Amino acid sequence: MREFSSVTPESSQKWDVIHPEAGRWQFADSDRVVDFAVSHQLAIRGHTLVWGRASVPDYIEQAADAKQLRDYMADHISTLVSRYQGKIERWDVVNEPLAIRGGDYADYIFNRLLGTDYIEQAFYLAHQADPAAKLYINEWYDENDEEKFQAYYHLVQQLLDKGVPLHGVGIQAHYNFHDPAPEKLQRQIQQFAALGVEVELTELDIAKFPWLDNRLQDQGIEYYQAAKACTAVAACSGITVWGFTDRYNWIKDWLNLPGFTPLLMDQTLQPKPAYYGVQQALLERQPTANPF
Ligand code: G3I
Repeated sequence: MREFSSVTPESSQKWDVIHPEAGRWQFADSDRVVDFAVSHQLAIRGHTLVWGRASVPDYIEQAADAKQLRDYMADHISTLVSRYQGKIERWDVVNEPLAIRGGDYADYIFNRLLGTDYIEQAFYLAHQADPAAKLYINEWYDENDEEKFQAYYHLVQQLLDKGVPLHGVGIQAHYNFHDPAPEKLQRQIQQFAALGVEVELTELDIAKFPWLDNRLQDQGIEYYQAAKACTAVAACSGITVWGFTDRYNWIKDWLNLPGFTPLLMDQTLQPKPAYYGVQQALLERQPTANPF
């Protein structure tokens, strides 16, 4: 492919889409993404095995007790990861375990019934199903929220100290309600990297409130700076953008806020300054850095 070396399904592997009822699987959309990627030699980031905040089917929200939920989780993770063994190299195993802000865990059915151990259980299950896959924890945070960063860092550190098969840390990098803080971002990437894991920007987008600020040049600079925060650190092994054309984006579709232009290409697939910002950061990469 000319522009990208990796792909991630935005929703087709989410629990409510792919496994809406116990024992009923809908693989078709996910299979299409995986087959497309394989036939075009694109790497795949699987997204996502356990996410409590959204896309949780009713039978999971209504699980009777810890045993039933643990059984559901084991079946879900084993079936999904085994299906794509050898094709999906990286999985977001646990998505957004923490509360939106501050240092607490989010309140999900998973920790309500299983305690926070559900996190490591999910990693062990995924590892069992595909020992070669690189397993990620993935989180959204505002780099200025020091408490949340510290909570994320300590969670990763704890999991690694316990020997949990965790290989990568995802920083979603959605800049929809706060501006990028590239120096802090780079420092935080370095801190995670020093723990011996890969780090990736997993869902990068930079939305502007169009009625306040629609300056595409500024957006280009911010994309450059965010990408550079990653490319400056050898362990930062990838940047995934959350969509690529402004024609389709989750802010418009999911949050029902039309008019945002958060991505690299415009409605007609023409590259924006954002595209050239990322390109510039990639061109300036040190030759010793990991290839994307
Ligand atoms: O496809 C159906 C369509 O048939 C139906 O008519 C329509 C009516 O609601 O819904 C469509 O599905 C929606 C799907 O997006 C595809 O657009 C779901 O309702 C909606 O819940 C889903 O939202 C996704 C959201 O996660 C929840 O899964 C967004 O597209 C997706 O961008 C967003 O992604 C998350 C990451 O996974 C985790 N990090 C935050 C990020 C943004 O919220």
